[in-house]
Amino acid sequence: MTIIVTGGAGFIGSNFIFHMLDAHTDYRIVCLDKLTYAGNLSTLASIMDKPNFRFVKLDICDREGVYKLFEEEHPDIVVNFAAESHVDRSIENPEVFLQTNILGTQVLMDACRKYGITRYHQVSTDEVYGDLPLDRPDLFFTEETPIHTSSPYSASKASADLLVLAYHRTYGLPVTISRCSNNYGPYHFPEKLIPLMIANCLNDKPLPVYGKGENVRDWLYVEDHCRAIDLIIHNGRVGEVYNVGGHNEMKNIDIVKLICQKLGKPESLITYVTDRKGHDMRYAIDPTKIHNELGWLPETKFADGIEKTIKWYLDNRDWWETIISGEYREYYEKMYGNR
Ligand code: NAD
Ligand code: TYD
Repeated sequence: MTIIVTGGAGFIGSNFIFHMLDAHTDYRIVCLDKLTYAGNLSTLASIMDKPNFRFVKLDICDREGVYKLFEEEHPDIVVNFAAESHVDRSIENPEVFLQTNILGTQVLMDACRKYGITRYHQVSTDEVYGDLPLDRPDLFFTEETPIHTSSPYSASKASADLLVLAYHRTYGLPVTISRCSNNYGPYHFPEKLIPLMIANCLNDKPLPVYGKGENVRDWLYVEDHCRAIDLIIHNGRVGEVYNVGGHNEMKNIDIVKLICQKLGKPESLITYVTDRKGHDMRYAIDPTKIHNELGWLPETKFADGIEKTIKWYLDNRDWWETIISGEYREYYEKMYGNR
């Protein structure tokens, strides 16, 4: 079994590769990644020399390059993590989001049609459902909730989802889609809420909370997401969407205060800043379908997951400090420049 994992040098993709290499030692994993600012080759350093792993620096929008890779590798399964993933960046500059998240998805699926695969899996997000009001804790996103996007990021992910379902219906491409809630854990790029707050706390820098910090996100430990995708690509029904989330809703401000407390830093570091434009209030996933059909349940409670995550950032200061200082680009040139 050969699996192409796109975006595998990013946060969730790299965790997924580690999970798959552990769980399926006989599989060949090919990581395709453009290494944008969010991709970090040092994350994959420990597996670079494994005989059943290959890294290829490639843009998913590069049709010729993608077709060549399919000719070389004959993948059975493609799991597409590659994306521009940060809402704030999408508000500043939407174009690259449309390019990578929509057109890149099309190129990958065209390659799948041309060369034949047993499964194309699209890693999507709960953000395609828009948001829920804070005063209706009884409401959750199900797979039937209408698409209703807020940011250029979520609009690009929703567009890709529609295209994936269209390729299934029109061409019979064997697809699945997962829509997951907010992930946290090791190798999370320090521009997102949890790693940013940990890094800033450790550097005694202000902790910028948008608006009043009352927005709610449904947090899932990244390993639980990886297990869900593993189950879906093997046992999920073709043409189906699966919501993935752990009923773990937290207000942003409570998370930031918890991080301060765990790191022994004063809450006076918290700085309320201008709210994000179009800021979604609440995300909350109903994971009944994946539980009933595939037996998936989250295994890591937030209290344990946040402990593990903070410990990882304390133990791996080099990883995120290098990113913050921008030196990881030099690392790439040194490690990969002549390959
Ligand atoms: P990330 O930003 O950490 O990583 C994205 C990776 O994709 C990087 O390695 C980057 O180099 C690569 N990439 C970007 N553009 C590319 C291109 N044109 N060609 C090839 N590679 C490219 O993102 P993440 O948080 O790991 O998210 C991965 C996927 O999961 C995304 O599709 C995202 O929409 C989805 N998702 C993320 C979350 C979350 O909480 N982070 C939740 C639900 C779904
Ligand atoms: P983020 O990690 O960007 O994920 P998403 O927007 O995809 O949910 O943000 C999580 C929440 O934290 C979101 O409500 C915005 C908020 N936030 C801040 O308050 N301050 C910050 O510096 C960042 C990056 C996010």
